Amino acid sequence: MERMKGKVCVVTGGARGIGRGIVEAFAREGALRVWALDMNDAEFPALEKAWPAVKGAVVNVTDAAAVEAFTAKAKAEHGRIDALVNNAGITKDALIQKMSESDWDAVIAVNLKGPFLMTKAIAPVMMEGGSGSIVSISSIVGLDGNIGQTNYAATKGGIVAMTKGWAREFSRKGAKIRANCVSPGYTRTPMIETVPEKVLEPIIARTPLGRLAEIEDIVNGVLYLSCDEGCFVNGQVLRIDGGLTL
Ligand SMILES: NC(=O)c1ccc[n+]([C@@H]2O[C@H](COP(=O)([O-])OP(=O)(O)OC[C@H]3O[C@@H](n4cnc5c(N)ncnc54)[C@H](O)[C@@H]3O)[C@@H](O)[C@H]2O)c1
Repeated sequence: MERMKGKVCVVTGGARGIGRGIVEAFAREGALRVWALDMNDAEFPALEKAWPAVKGAVVNVTDAAAVEAFTAKAKAEHGRIDALVNNAGITKDALIQKMSESDWDAVIAVNLKGPFLMTKAIAPVMMEGGSGSIVSISSIVGLDGNIGQTNYAATKGGIVAMTKGWAREFSRKGAKIRANCVSPGYTRTPMIETVPEKVLEPIIARTPLGRLAEIEDIVNGVLYLSCDEGCFVNGQVLRIDGGLTL
């Protein structure tokens, strides 16, 4: 079944980790075009070779001019954008007394301003077409907080609040544009490679399903919300954490 058949999709942070998994899944599910946006272009040739629908674009999501220029290019190609996934994100963890202002600013810029700029640019294209899906990657930390992640928690909570506003704002005047979040638990990607196993082990022990998330676990939720199977799901937060935060 080709759940993304004919759709034009944009995925930020698409070069590796969860974003790359989403890009590949959308291509596998028959998307017409999957734009993989990232600051790092090293993986684009391999992605484009494996999946003809995929095109890489170097876009820093914190750069308003770059986001707008990209959106104009994507709109010029097919005249519409059906799915946006705000996935790009970074961490700069420290206890609050040790968290520098620059580490606060950097995380806010990528994780919060990035989805703002991307959605500000792309939602109007969706509005013109009358339909679309926006999925933003939050985190269980955005719902429950975490020691050493004041900056990250602020952005991931902010994404949830923005999403609930967008779910109403973009469905006015009959437009069928949905906005939802996926909130992953700890997921095996390059982002958590630096987290020591001694920190991960108690998390696994507290997780009813007894493991960390794999990239595919998160991708499957994003796919559901992005394709027409999720067509009546709007303004929701889907936790994918094996029951860790129950
Ligand atoms: N891995 C986890 O445990 C976990 C848990 C919960 C939520 N998340 C969230 O999932 C998303 C993906 O995480 P991941 O683990 O795959 O991360 P990752 O670090 O493996 O990949 C992130 C990608 O985003 C890109 N990126 C970073 N800054 C960017 C910018 N300014 N503009 C464009 N691209 C940029 C990076 O180059 C990289 O390719 C993030 O939003 C993260 O906060 C991850």
